[in-house]
Amino acid sequence: MARERAKLVVGNWKMHGRIEQNAPLLTEVAAGASALQDVGVGVCVPFPYLAQTQALLADSIVRWGVQDISAHAQGAYTGEVAAEMATDFGATYAIVGHSERRAYHHETPELVGAKARRALDAGVTPIVCLGETLDERECDATERVIGAQLEAVLLMLSEEQAARIVIAYEPVWAIGTGKSATAAQAQNVHAFVRSKLAEKGATIAHVPLLYGGSVKPDNAQELFGQADIDGGLIGGASLKSQDFLAICQAAQTVLQ
Ligand code: PGA
Repeated sequence: MARERAKLVVGNWKMHGRIEQNAPLLTEVAAGASALQDVGVGVCVPFPYLAQTQALLADSIVRWGVQDISAHAQGAYTGEVAAEMATDFGATYAIVGHSERRAYHHETPELVGAKARRALDAGVTPIVCLGETLDERECDATERVIGAQLEAVLLMLSEEQAARIVIAYEPVWAIGTGKSATAAQAQNVHAFVRSKLAEKGATIAHVPLLYGGSVKPDNAQELFGQADIDGGLIGGASLKSQDFLAICQAAQTVLQ
């Protein structure tokens, strides 16, 4: 049953951070995370800080990753970063299909699927983001939108590959707004995603499903306590070590 799966909490720094600010944040997160059990912790940092992150987290249980990757392996793609380049710095995760990239960089569902496959080919775990806008929710299109986003990714992957992804459900209207989905709203979509995954194969049904969108220390426990919510993708609150660690602690509390 869902409750038995270990939890995973990943920070998404977005375009935040400077060398000087990152050092105490990473060091504090590493120290705090060392006390956790059965909770995986990760941080997805801007590309230029991968080396610093690797240096400061190498001896900790915290894993790190990037917030996007190219759909290409290498070549004349000015400005793109290949998944292999991230693995040169020990990256475990690559967020793909974040709604900010879908909206501001016009990433299509097919491109997101190609990025997920590229990540897997390079040995990086894609954290595939799915989410509906407020308009889509209000006209009852949430399941149609989420289902189509998910399908576009699964179409690109073999069953073995699909079993190695992480999914993050992030309603667009909840991101950075302070207005989280209620635990029941999030659970409903997670259960839907889980059922769609189960149609593809028993192993796929158990990939971690994270919730993201205004997760804070005071709402994390209720969200993480839902049967199909396996943890969180944390934006703003991942920039403050105390808040991020409190959210990680909430993930541990629901397991006890
Ligand atoms: P937020 O962002 O926690 O700041 O709402 C989450 C995300 O976009 O991953």
